Amino acid sequence: MQQEYEHGGAVDKISRQTGKENLLDFSANINPKGLSKSVRQAIENNIDNIIHYPDVEMMELKNKISSSYDIAAEDIIVGNGAVELIYILCHVLQPKKVLLTAPAFSEYERAAQSVNAQITYCNLLEKNNFELSLASLIVALKEQDILFLCNPNNPTGTLLETQDLTMIVEHAEANGCFVVIDESFMDFIANSEEFSAKPLLKNNHNLFVLHSLTKFFALPGLRLGFGACHDKEVVKRMQLSKDPWNVNVLAQKAGLAALNDNTYQRRSRNYMRSEINYLYEELLQQKKIKVYKPSVNYILINIQDSGMTASEFKDKMLDKGIIIRDCSNYPGLSEFFIRVAVRTRDENDVLLEAIEEILS
Ligand SMILES: Cc1ncc(COP(=O)(O)O)c(C=O)c1O
Repeated sequence: MQQEYEHGGAVDKISRQTGKENLLDFSANINPKGLSKSVRQAIENNIDNIIHYPDVEMMELKNKISSSYDIAAEDIIVGNGAVELIYILCHVLQPKKVLLTAPAFSEYERAAQSVNAQITYCNLLEKNNFELSLASLIVALKEQDILFLCNPNNPTGTLLETQDLTMIVEHAEANGCFVVIDESFMDFIANSEEFSAKPLLKNNHNLFVLHSLTKFFALPGLRLGFGACHDKEVVKRMQLSKDPWNVNVLAQKAGLAALNDNTYQRRSRNYMRSEINYLYEELLQQKKIKVYKPSVNYILINIQDSGMTASEFKDKMLDKGIIIRDCSNYPGLSEFFIRVAVRTRDENDVLLEAIEEILS
């Protein structure tokens, strides 16, 4: 039987279980600026259009994604969230062997299991601050069909540079291995051109770059993401394997408005940069926890020295009305890891106070 996977953001479920309302959610990594005004307006303006089926070609949205991320429009496939595309890709490529780094986002594992692939893990070691060993990865990808990489990595926040990715993708190609690079948190990074694999698409047919639009644009309940691959056959087979109306009318219009809103994007990045530093620096002042340096809007913490497990810590935070992510179900992490999102200054201060009280 397949194992159940837990994710952050299960606010309704936790409310039902605990009877608590108005919980502060630090378990999902969503832009705390919330919906941009223009996205809200686009949704309101298009509400009457939900009496029609969505545009199956999504050309307007694809063209906007193409110009925003400098990817050829014909290489793009749009999904009902990025996660949908992970499943469609596995369904289409039918890998027998899948290589995952651990810890990483759990849906790669679940999608691989859904097509009965054999999974191998390349462990990111705590003693190396969870930095990927390129040498180990290169050895491990021999005889693999698909490698999944998450960059920036969730939950560790570790980041690979484009030049490392180039090397990985080329080694994979030489070994007949397809590479999926998940850049779902890349929009939070100002100098993303140093880390993104999107420029590699043109020259590497064995590369699929995945990108969620639900994190940075705060649309997880609406669902929107895209992927890109320069292998026309892969994109075509994915198009043919999906629900033709997978991206609803409002999500298409919201995506267009979001990508057109440069002010929201600039303000969000500026705000997040200082707030990430603030929360990180304040957490470093706490004794009995080890805080890993974040690159984007979430922070991994080892609480072993507190004498509590992540599950106990999570329950204590919940008593204070705060949801955090217990990371003990990530392969490659012990029962002492938690992850917190970076939110608004007021919310971050509430989180810090709660952590201080629990640790004192
Ligand atoms: C690394 C990563 N990729 C993809 C997703 C899912 O994105 P979406 O909401 O677009 O399906 C998540 C959600 O937590 C994630 O952490």
